[in-house]
Amino acid sequence: ATEETLVLIKPDGVARGLTGAILARIEAKGYSLVDIRLVEPTRERLAQHYAEHEGKPFYEPLLEFMMSGPSVAIRLAGNRVIEGFRSLAGTTDPTTAAPGTIRGDFGRDWGVAVQQNLVHGSDSPESAQRELGIWF
Ligand code: CMP
Repeated sequence: ATEETLVLIKPDGVARGLTGAILARIEAKGYSLVDIRLVEPTRERLAQHYAEHEGKPFYEPLLEFMMSGPSVAIRLAGNRVIEGFRSLAGTTDPTTAAPGTIRGDFGRDWGVAVQQNLVHGSDSPESAQRELGIWF
């Protein structure tokens, strides 16, 4: 059935000028852009979004990174778009993400505390509804 997911083009993707290239892959795959906006998130918004990671060693660096510049938030729709976008994105670590994926093709390890991995995609229907409410 048609579902929606939250996609973020994170600050590294926007800063590196990869917004268009990433959107092109999403559109070429055939998913529908329902809404899209440039967001400079507050700490409060990020604390909600990343609540499950609070207390982990990368939590503070992650929030700092996500506040380092604007992200592009996308409400994306399509059949099985949640797993479909995660497949397009590739695995979390960009060093080993498969070539052909967004992270695998455009990402690398920059030697900083947080994994700058270009994009975020919701991991379940429950997360998608929760996260869409935070960003839109
Ligand atoms: P994301 O899918 O947005 O969810 C949590 C983010 O934390 C993840 O992408 C990475 O950017 C970052 N992250 C996850 N695991 C680690 C880790 N072990 N070290 C540093 N950053 C991480």
